[in-house]
Amino acid sequence: AWRPDDDDDQRRGSSGPVRVRVPAKVNLHLGVGPLRRDGYHELNTVYHAISIYDELTARRGDTLTLTMEGEGAGELALDDSNLAIRAAHALAGYAGVLPHARLHLRKQIPLAGGLAGGSADAAAALVACDALWGTGLSRDELAGIAADLGSDVPFLIHGGTALGTGRGEAVSPVLARPTSWHWVVAVADGGLSTPAAYRELDRLRDAGTAGTPLGSTDGLLGALRQRDPRVLAGCLGNDLQDAALSMRPALADTLKAGEAAGALAGIVSGSGPTCVFLARDAADAQRIATEVQAAGVCRETRVAHGPVPGARVG
Ligand code: C5P
Repeated sequence: AWRPDDDDDQRRGSSGPVRVRVPAKVNLHLGVGPLRRDGYHELNTVYHAISIYDELTARRGDTLTLTMEGEGAGELALDDSNLAIRAAHALAGYAGVLPHARLHLRKQIPLAGGLAGGSADAAAALVACDALWGTGLSRDELAGIAADLGSDVPFLIHGGTALGTGRGEAVSPVLARPTSWHWVVAVADGGLSTPAAYRELDRLRDAGTAGTPLGSTDGLLGALRQRDPRVLAGCLGNDLQDAALSMRPALADTLKAGEAAGALAGIVSGSGPTCVFLARDAADAQRIATEVQAAGVCRETRVAHGPVPGARVG
């Protein structure tokens, strides 16, 4: 008798296009520990997925190709160095299928912005190709492959708000009663290199001019449970912020403009140069975004809310 399991590879999976939406991330707390022997830093971070999305569509094809539109189109290599292509190869290798797909990216997450846009695209490619090829991996298996692609990629498979340890790849969800936090995202002109930001932090620490390391995430996790944005504002922190400000001193003006516009707090996102501001509610965020935009201290502002789910089909 015919059973679905008898299906061959060509008929398993999806014959139509698979569309995956994946969010950007900010780090509500980014505690950077010592440099490890493998070149990574030990992290103690709280990831938070926000409502700025890239969209990846995967279609059947005879080879593996990638095209893109939107943020950074024309600036990003579309060859085997692209994280989405690397993700498709990694999944195909793991599952023992041919890496054949036509991938198309619609990007809204800025490149090299500290919002993990490249990692988001890798997470989206894993989820999309898994559905296209019918390889049917669990979210945890996908996160395992994701860890080899980049420290932030496993989080973008899961989304929400989560604790990240190790080099950031070990992710566990933060369980909290549902609350939406409202953010203003100030996108800068041009990007910053993540390895360069970590090197700059090491240099500042060696010179004794870096700020005191953040340490434990306990304060932030307690603040999340209180569901009061004024409490959360007091607990946001990023050890990489000094490095980003040292490399891009003008970011101090962006942070000041957010404060002047009445944001509860502002921090550099990840390795920067994007800055994020916490607002009281959606209307407050809209008002702050308009005001920061008018101050001329960034390329553009956007409003976002979080937490939102990770890479999902549909
Ligand atoms: O893991 P991912 O490829 O995104 O990291 C990019 C670079 O950022 C690493 O090569 C390393 O220089 C730096 N990094 C680090 N410590 C981490 C994560 C990233 O030093 N925990």
